Amino acid sequence: MSTIERAAAQGNGEEPPTPTPRPARKSEPVHSLEERISSRRRPLAGRCDFDIDAMAARGFLSPKEGRSQLAREMRRMKRPLLLNIRKAEALLGRPSAETGPKDMRSHNFIMVTSALPGEGKTYTSTNLAISIAAEIDRSALLVDADVAKRDLSRQFDLTGDRGLTEALADSSVHPDAFTLATNVDRLELLPSGTSRDNIDELYASVTMQRRMRSLSRLDPNRVVVFDGPPLLVTTEAKVLAQYMSQILLVVESGKTPQDAVLHALKLLEEHPNVSVVLNKTSRPLGSDYGYGYGCGYGYGQTEEEAAR
Ligand SMILES: Nc1ncnc2c1ncn2[C@@H]1O[C@H](COP(=O)(O)OP(=O)(O)OP(=O)(O)O)[C@@H](O)[C@H]1O
Ligand SMILES: [Mg+2]
Repeated sequence: MSTIERAAAQGNGEEPPTPTPRPARKSEPVHSLEERISSRRRPLAGRCDFDIDAMAARGFLSPKEGRSQLAREMRRMKRPLLLNIRKAEALLGRPSAETGPKDMRSHNFIMVTSALPGEGKTYTSTNLAISIAAEIDRSALLVDADVAKRDLSRQFDLTGDRGLTEALADSSVHPDAFTLATNVDRLELLPSGTSRDNIDELYASVTMQRRMRSLSRLDPNRVVVFDGPPLLVTTEAKVLAQYMSQILLVVESGKTPQDAVLHALKLLEEHPNVSVVLNKTSRPLGSDYGYGYGCGYGYGQTEEEAAR
């Protein structure tokens, strides 16, 4: 089934088969940050094996596929994001206003968000993390930061696992202590943890600031991709945005109302690096059609810069 057929099937209300991920094993003890840093290949809290074939059947990027349209689209999406990280890394050694101690943004953090629910945040963040993990000199950590929905954790049957919220509620535990290895090379996963009513306050807390800083510093080659909540129906997406160096705003082609997109961009207007990705675009490619990712641009960029 092609991507367009899968998307059309979803439009008709027919759900493609749900992947049946194998449950994570939770046998390893929780390790302190110091222990984790001290060993280069650090022990993880457990393991979550992706059912790669079932995910591919649902239209997700398979780590094995390098030449598909989706693989190309994901490359087009990740390349400018990784370039921005590279530029920030080059600057990090030099003190500047952007990298000063008061800056809470971690150069290797990317949040995927959208104006409204259901526009493709979890789909995009999962594919993006899989694509980044395919880089030779990068690894990826995919974080379920949409604690109210927990779709990412649900997708991998991890809703019973401890995760981000436990690390925020207990200042003695580092979030990486709940990170799970996966069967995709260089890809790790941090479940959301238990749902909380005060997630906005947890995200705004000093503990969160510390946790985000150490999550960023633990592995210099790791890119952390956050599957975030929607901006217009939650308050926590905006709070989370302040920790991110880059934000990817997913817009559903032909569906997201223009005023919703403008409102979401307005909420992010102070953020230095927001890119928009058009999801579920349909476009001719020879005789073939594909759903995927269209244009992207960043705030503060000229059209020429964005086009480069
Ligand atoms: N480009 C795409 N091609 C095919 N299917 C897609 C695409 N984008 C999203 N989907 C599918 O659309 C549905 C909604 O996407 P997803 O769950 O990623 O949205 P979301 O923004 O995370 O939603 P929520 O706000 O509820 O968390 C899912 O079934 C997903 O697999
Ligand atoms: Mg989601």
